[in-house]
Amino acid sequence: MTSLPRNAVVTGASSGIGAAVAERLAHHGCRLLLVGRDRARLDAVALRCGGRALVADLRDPAGVAAVSDAADGWAQLLVHGAGVGAAGPLADTPAEVVDELLTVNLVAPVQLTRALVPTLRTARGHVVFVASVAAIGVAYEAAYSATKAGLRGFADALRVESDIGVTTVLPGAVTTPYYERRGQPYHRRFPRPVSPERVAGALVDAVRRDRAEVFVPRWLTVGARVHGVAPAAFAHLSRRMDRRPDAGHG
Ligand SMILES: NC(=O)c1ccc[n+]([C@@H]2O[C@H](COP(=O)([O-])OP(=O)(O)OC[C@H]3O[C@@H](n4cnc5c(N)ncnc54)[C@H](OP(=O)(O)O)[C@@H]3O)[C@@H](O)[C@H]2O)c1
Repeated sequence: MTSLPRNAVVTGASSGIGAAVAERLAHHGCRLLLVGRDRARLDAVALRCGGRALVADLRDPAGVAAVSDAADGWAQLLVHGAGVGAAGPLADTPAEVVDELLTVNLVAPVQLTRALVPTLRTARGHVVFVASVAAIGVAYEAAYSATKAGLRGFADALRVESDIGVTTVLPGAVTTPYYERRGQPYHRRFPRPVSPERVAGALVDAVRRDRAEVFVPRWLTVGARVHGVAPAAFAHLSRRMDRRPDAGHG
């Protein structure tokens, strides 16, 4: 196990998984640049963890540029925790919701990573993408699944082409405001939701071990393997499980 990089940027730090990651990193002595939109919640996290709070809207290229400017030459660890969800049949999903999903969940992390690769390379640093088990394709979350699968492919390519550490974290359901915000509660009996602190612990451990990807809980890896070797069987099982439009993961 290696030691953690010292200077860390965390997007989505004002809530849920990102806030839990910030707390975990602070516990390990990291210096933090905390990114979010909600000033009050972000300041509350900064008060608990130390570090600088930066309000930036990642739907806006100017918001992405503000983060990369603040982290340029400084960042050693970049954690992409910001994200939004949406559930329902694709045809019923408004175009602007699809646009927001693609922009916040995929375009912003790709652009921010691109801008900070030189800094991370100099620091022999590490980048973490908070994707989702939906990266393997979850019905009624087609656009969301596309963003998370896109992140996973991007991360895999970057890990091979660059000399920075790259980790993808793929949680199942997590007890955060995410479901309330997307307007669809979580109704599945399994996977049982886990705490954001558990995801944060797995994320930090994966960075220290330089793991390419980690599912949380770990047993979700089995679903990904079935999907990989028997996609038709996986689709059949999914069809049986995913009849309700509000059944999705995060
Ligand atoms: N919860 C789950 O079950 C689950 C499962 C798998 C994966 N995930 C993924 O985990 C990540 C974190 O989700 P969470 O569960 O922690 O949800 P959350 O509690 O709703 O937090 C989402 C975070 O993203 C930030 N964010 C959203 N839109 C933004 C924008 N336009 N610009 C800047 N920041 C923005 C929010 O900032 P403000 O609050 O300041 O607006 C907030 O800090 C997401 O990528 C999500 O897809 C979640």
